[in-house]
Parts: sequence; structure tokens; C-alpha cells
Amino acid sequence: MALLIKGGEIVTAESRSRGDIFIEDETITRIGLDLTAPPGTEVIDATGKLVFPGFIDPHVHIHLPFMATFAKDTHATASKAALIGGTTTFIEMCCPSRNEDALDGYNTWKHKAEGNSACDYAFHMAVTCFDSKTEAHLREIVRDGTASFKVFLAYKNFFAVNDEELFHTLRLAAELGVITTAHCENAELVSQLQQLLLAEGKTGPEWHEPSRPEAVEAEGTSRFATFLEQTGATGYVVHLSCAPALRAAVEARLRGVKIHIESVLPHFLLDKSYAERLGVEGMKHVMSPPLRDKRNLPALWSALQAGLIDTVGTDHCPFDIEQKLLGTNNFTQIPNGIPGIEDRVNLMYTFGVKRGVLDIHRLVDALSTRPAKLFGLFPRKGTIAVGADADLVVYDPTYRGTISAAGQASNNDYNGFEGFAIEGRPSHVTVRGKVQVRDGVFVGEPGRGRMIRRQPQYSAQNVTEEVATHAG
Ligand code: URP
Ligand code: ZN
Ligand code: ZN
Repeated sequence: MALLIKGGEIVTAESRSRGDIFIEDETITRIGLDLTAPPGTEVIDATGKLVFPGFIDPHVHIHLPFMATFAKDTHATASKAALIGGTTTFIEMCCPSRNEDALDGYNTWKHKAEGNSACDYAFHMAVTCFDSKTEAHLREIVRDGTASFKVFLAYKNFFAVNDEELFHTLRLAAELGVITTAHCENAELVSQLQQLLLAEGKTGPEWHEPSRPEAVEAEGTSRFATFLEQTGATGYVVHLSCAPALRAAVEARLRGVKIHIESVLPHFLLDKSYAERLGVEGMKHVMSPPLRDKRNLPALWSALQAGLIDTVGTDHCPFDIEQKLLGTNNFTQIPNGIPGIEDRVNLMYTFGVKRGVLDIHRLVDALSTRPAKLFGLFPRKGTIAVGADADLVVYDPTYRGTISAAGQASNNDYNGFEGFAIEGRPSHVTVRGKVQVRDGVFVGEPGRGRMIRRQPQYSAQNVTEEVATHAG
């Protein structure tokens, strides 16, 4: 059936104008003023509302075996939460353990998502060890349409790769033309600092940040950049949390390293005092890299506005209170993660755009267009244009509400942003032309989402020549 979204203020990364959007089947077919539509067309009156391209979350965890437990969401609950919050596509980290075959892991993740997600999705394929079998599997996974890798420099003896594995992963990524995303913290330093703190009887969540200080993240970021430089690969730092790591990434970019930066919702709004709260209140706010000293927050906002931080994801990673309590006597056993897929757009709109620290076009760019461009989803996703998928968010800037775990769609019994006021929310959300959210309520088809297959887009480099040019 056709759909007409009428009279809204259409806002993209570049432009803003009043107009109508006509959708046939799954695609935008006309944009203009006072469009007419054939009988039988559903009309959504968007007068007084903003119309954004569907938002894209480039970093989520849904199925995640981690720290002796599993993240709580299913693809059904997480995608419903995503849509209510205006996210129409997410990219999930597919994270098999070191001992698992990459291809088996990939098929497990695909199987979990297939037919269960209400919005569209793609994967980043984590490389948690590198040998000839893994290499063959990775080639097959890229051929299947998963054109981005993930490496962890953190989580010793679990997800972390060593420098040799990092080198070979990036060489392969450069050859295949895929982008590699990276969690940048020095795994050995974290492990040693954790042991020192525990030996001093420092067991509470307030010791999580001191066990992974800013310098440890800056080192990881700088090492990742050096490996990118020497392999010619293109990289993307995930969940960058602090000014020293930002400086390391920006310095690398200035000397020509192909490095992009993501920061995630918690690092813009929460500081380490949240994790210093007593007992489970602190544990709810344990994630890695940790929440930082509050002096970092203005630096992240400025870098975001300036476009130095490319994207804003969530690192959605829901562990409930019972799971957080696994670390009651030992902060290293608190499952790491803070959920946010439902709240990213509303909180970034409220605390960024409404507070005047983030331009509305940069919001769209960082939360939709740039993730689409960096990860091979553009122009099908990430913009409002004739021929694009009709993933649209009709946004009500007059809505006033408060973030609360009560009634949230994500399968969790707490919300790390409890009590934060929001000034706006999606009223209607479409996925490929179908209304999945109406008046803020999920009304959609649970399994509508499709895996979006992507092509490698970072052409292989002649690394020797690149290195010679830089040396030269
Ligand atoms: O604390 C976090 N970030 N949990 C999820 C795993 C990861 O490192 O992204
Ligand atoms: Zn991470
Ligand atoms: Zn993550």
C-alpha cells in the first residue's frame, strides 16, 4: 500500500525544508510540496513535526555470551526498542569466542536474528583469533555481505587479539576492502591493574575506572592507528570515551591514517560518578571503556559537533540487576555494558540539539548518514531521497517525557539514564514503507527486518607504496 507523509519539516544531514514524502511499496518515489496521492493511500499528517531519515545504530550487542552470562535482549525485544526510539537499522557485533569457528559463530548470530527482528540489521564480524581456517571463513563471511570486521584489543583471554593477530586481520581487511572496527584498550595493562587493585582489597564498582585509566585507552587507540598505518587498512575506533584517546585518533588522522571515530551515548551524558554510587547503583554503570571524569564530556561534544567524532552509537548491552550482582565482591566480574538503543536519538536530540551544542544536521549525520556511508548502507539507508528505502522517523519536538525502565521495550529491569528528561520523541516510524511505530507505540510486524548485505568499499591499497609515501 502507498503511504504519504504530509507537511513535515524534512531534515537530512545537509538540508531542511517543508514537504511531503510519497512511498510506494518499500521505497520513496516522490518528494515535493502538496503532493497528491491515489485513493487508498494512507496519509500521516506530519504538520509541526520533523521528518528524519531512519536512524542507524552502528554498535549494538543483542546475542552476546560474555562474562559468564548472556546479554538479556532477543532480536525481537531489541528491535522493538530500537524502533520506538527511532532506530530503523542496527549493526550488531557478531562475537564468537576464541575457541569457536568464525563461520559457526556467524551462522549462529544470523540464525538468531533471522525472522525475529522488526527492523533491518547488519553485522560486524568479530575476529577473536587469526589462523588459516579463520582467514578462509572471513573471506566467506565478507562474500556473504558482512563487509566489516571487529577486533578487541581488550578482554585478555577472551575476545582480545594479540598484535600478530591484529596485523594479519588488518592485512586481510585491506586486501578485501573492508573496514575494521576496534575496541581500543590495552588488555594486559587492564589485567595487571585489576589484579593490583583487588590485592589491595579494592573490590567495588568504583574501581572499574581506575583499572582501565584514560592512558590505557589512549595507548590502545594509538597502537590501532599505527597498525592501520602499516597495513593500509581503514579503521573505526568504537566507543571512544576520553580526550587522550581522541587526541591519539585525531593525530593519526592528521598524518593520513584512515581512522574513523565513534563515541557512544553513555560517554556523552554520564560520568564516572555514576559508577562510584554504592552497590548495584554503581554496577549498573559499569561498561568498558569506563565512564570517565566529567572533564571529558565537553571535549566529546565539541569533537562531535566538529565532525571529528564521526558517529554516535549506543554499545547497547543489556545485563539486568541480577547479572550485575555477579560482581558484588569483585568489580572485574560485573558484566560490562549499559543499554541505550531505545534512548539514543531522544537523548542526543534533547541534550545536543535542544541544548544548542549539536547542530540538527550533524545529529542526522552522526546518527544516520555517516554510519550508512562508513558501513556501506548508503544511499539505500541514511538519507531521504527518491529511490532510498522508506525508513523514516516522524519526530515530535513538542513531546515531553522522562526516561524510565518502567515500560521500556528493551528486556531489562533498569535504565542507566533513569530520570533524564527528554524533549522530543518519534511519533511514527517506518521500515521500508511499513508503519512500525504509531503515536509512539510499536504496532509493527515483529519479523519484518531483513539482513542488509553490504559490499566492501575500501579499495585495497598498495601498502608498500603508502608506507614509502609517508616515510618520504
Ligand atoms: O562494556 C561494554 N562495552 N560491553 C560490551 C562489550 C564491548 O566491549 O563492547
Ligand atoms: Zn567494546
Ligand atoms: Zn560493544
